[in-house]
Amino acid sequence: MEQTFVMIKPDGVQRGLIGEIISRIERKGLRIVAMRMCQITDETARRHYAEHVEKPFFSSLVDFITSSPVVQMIVEGENAVVVMRTMSGATDPKEALIGTIRGDFGLDVGRNLIHSADSLESAKREIAIHFTEEDVVEYTKADETWVYE
Ligand code: RTP
Ligand code: MG
Repeated sequence: MEQTFVMIKPDGVQRGLIGEIISRIERKGLRIVAMRMCQITDETARRHYAEHVEKPFFSSLVDFITSSPVVQMIVEGENAVVVMRTMSGATDPKEALIGTIRGDFGLDVGRNLIHSADSLESAKREIAIHFTEEDVVEYTKADETWVYE
């Protein structure tokens, strides 16, 4: 089982899509093992998006992600990193396939609703930024024998 870091961005929260997005994660068969709503600080946002510090969109990205509450999750499942990236869709919602979260609900690259870690290494780094071990609840979901062979 793999763990990935997922965050419903401020636009997803403000547009009332928390339930829709969490519902898709649940219906896929993935397991949420940590979850919180918070408004992230400038410092945390800069750490989270450190790889983009030199990009022209960095300051607007940090301003946006800190502008309003987000919902953060650790999502667990087989190949959870790739599965969540596929469910999220392409970075630019205009290009994201219909059926993905960004493809179904977004139009602008700066308002793309959801973040999910792009590799196992990124997932580990991001989980360590946003959660502690005490935040994680390990359990078995009753339907898992019907999700996995
Ligand atoms: P994220 O990290 O937020 O999940 O998105 P991602 O992996 O699909 O895309 P990434 O390359 O990591 O970019 C991070 C966020 O920066 C904004 N962005 N704007 N104006 C632009 O050309 C541009 N490119 C990226 C997006 O909001 C993207 O989610
Ligand atoms: Mg990224």
